[in-house]
Amino acid sequence: MPHPQSTTARLSSIIRRCAGASALRPGEQAHSRVIVLGLVPHSTLETDLLLLYARCSRFPLARLVFDKMTHRPLHAWNIILSAYTQVSLFHPALSCLHSLLDSGLRPDHFTLPSLLKASAGLGLRLTGAALHAWAVRLALVPHLFVSASLIDMYLKCGYLLDARELFDEIPERDRVVWNAMITGLVRAGLFGEALGLFRMSQWESFDMDWMSVPSVLSACSSSGDLRRGKEVHGRAIRCLVCHSDVAIGNSLIEMYSKCGFLDASFEVFARMSYRNLVTWSVVISSYGIHGFGKEALMLFEEMRTTGLEPNSIVFTSVLLSCSHAGLVNDGRAVFESITQGYGLVPSIEHYACMVDLLGRNGSIEEALELIQTMRIEPTASIWGALLAASSLQGNVEVGELAATKLFAMEPRNSSNYVALCRIYERARNWDAVAEMRRKMRELGVAKIPGCSWIEVKGKTLCFYQAEASLSKPVSSKMLQVLSGLLNQSQLESFDKG
Ligand SMILES: *[C@@H]1O[C@H](CO)[C@@H](O)[C@H](O)[C@H]1NC(C)=O
Ligand SMILES: *[C@@H]1O[C@H](CO)[C@@H](O)[C@H](O)[C@H]1NC(C)=O
Repeated sequence: MPHPQSTTARLSSIIRRCAGASALRPGEQAHSRVIVLGLVPHSTLETDLLLLYARCSRFPLARLVFDKMTHRPLHAWNIILSAYTQVSLFHPALSCLHSLLDSGLRPDHFTLPSLLKASAGLGLRLTGAALHAWAVRLALVPHLFVSASLIDMYLKCGYLLDARELFDEIPERDRVVWNAMITGLVRAGLFGEALGLFRMSQWESFDMDWMSVPSVLSACSSSGDLRRGKEVHGRAIRCLVCHSDVAIGNSLIEMYSKCGFLDASFEVFARMSYRNLVTWSVVISSYGIHGFGKEALMLFEEMRTTGLEPNSIVFTSVLLSCSHAGLVNDGRAVFESITQGYGLVPSIEHYACMVDLLGRNGSIEEALELIQTMRIEPTASIWGALLAASSLQGNVEVGELAATKLFAMEPRNSSNYVALCRIYERARNWDAVAEMRRKMRELGVAKIPGCSWIEVKGKTLCFYQAEASLSKPVSSKMLQVLSGLLNQSQLESFDKG
C-alpha cells in the first residue's frame, strides 16, 4: 500500500502531463482513480483536473470540477476565467470577479488579461478602464502581458488614443505589445497608422515579431497600398522568412491579388517551400475573383495531386471561382464531389455559392430545388442569393417565395422589400408595387434604418427610430461589480490585505 501522499503527488503529475498534451482519455482515467481513492477534496488535484478539462475544451466538466471545489486557489480562478473567455462567455467571466473578491483573493497578472478580454469582448470600456485603474493600484501594469491586454481592450472598444497613450508609456515593449497595437490598428481600419507603427517596430525592436506581418499585409490589401506591401515583402525577404513562413506567404498572395497583381501573387505562391490548405484556398480565390475560373480549377486539381485533402474553405474558394466565371457545369461537379468524393457536408457558404451560380445562369428552379434538399436549415444568406437571382431573371414566383422567407427571418431589413418591389416593377405589376410600398410604410422600414447609440449613466442603449429600445442594457449587473471595484475603501482594504 503506497503512502497516500505519494499517490496524490503521482496522480497530480499524471494529470498535469495529460493536460499539457491535451490527452483527455488517460486524464479521465486518472480522474477516476482520484475519485475511487477518495483523494478529493484536494485543491491541487482539483486544480490539475480543472486545467485538464479546460485544455481539452471540455468546458462543462471544467465547470463541474470548479463548482465542487471547497477551496479555490487563485490559479484555479485564472484557469476558469481563461476558459470562459476562450469560448466567449464574457458575462460569466466578469461575474466571477465578484466571487473571487468575496473569497478574499486579489487578481494577479494572469487574472487581469482574461477580465480585460471579457470587457473588450462586450465593448465595456468603463469596466476595462476600472480594471486599468486597478492594475495600476496593484502594480501589475509593468507586466507586458497586462499592458498588451489593456491596449487590446482599448482598441477593441474603439478608444484608440487611450491605447496609443498606454503604448507610448511602455518603456520596453515586447513582441506581444507591438503585435497588439499593430493588429488593433488594422482591425480599426487605420491602415496608415498600422503601417507607420510597423516601420517603427523595425527600428525599435531587435527581436522582430513576424506575427504582425500578416496583419500589416492585410492592411496593405485593404487599402490597396501596393507600395507599402512591397516594402514589407522586401523586409520579409531580407529576413528570409517569407518562403518559410506560411502565414506570411499566404498574406502576401492575398495582398498582391487584392491590389490587382495576380502575377506577383502567383510568384509568391510558386516560391513557397511549404503550402497548407489556406495557401491553396487563397491562391484559388485570387484567380477566382479576377474571373480566371478555369485557372482556379486547374490549381484545385494540382492541389489534389499533392495529396492534400480539400476542406470546406477550399471548396468555398473553388465554388466562388466557378460562380465568378459562370462555370455552371464545373460548379455542379465540384459541389457534388463535396459529398460524393470527400464525404463532407456542404456548408451554408457552399449552398450560397451554388444558388448564386445557378441563379445567374437562369436555372432558378434548380437553385430552388437545391435549397429544398438542404440538410441544414437555409439561412437568410441563401434566401438572399435566391432573391437576388430571381430579381436578375425577373422570376416573380420564386422571388415572392424567397422574399416571404426573408421577411419572416429579418423583418427589419429594407433591402429585401426593395428587391421584391423591383421584381414587381419589372413585371409591371403596379398593384403589387403599391402594396409593397404601403407595407414598407406600415412597418416603418426605411431604406436605411436609423439607429442611435447613447450612453445613459455609462450604459449603452440602442434606439431605433421612434421606437422603444430593442436591446436591453447588457452591463447593468457588471456595473454593480464595477462600482464596488472603484470603491476606494475596498481598494484600500485590498492594499492592506
Ligand atoms: C448557363 O450555362 C450553360 C453551360 O455553361 C451555358 O451554355 C448557358 O449559356 C448559360 N446560360 C446563361 C443564361 O448564362
Ligand atoms: C439585408 O439584406 C441584404 C440582402 O439580402 C444583405 O446583404 C444584408 O446583409 C442584410 N442586412 C442585415 C442587417 O441583415
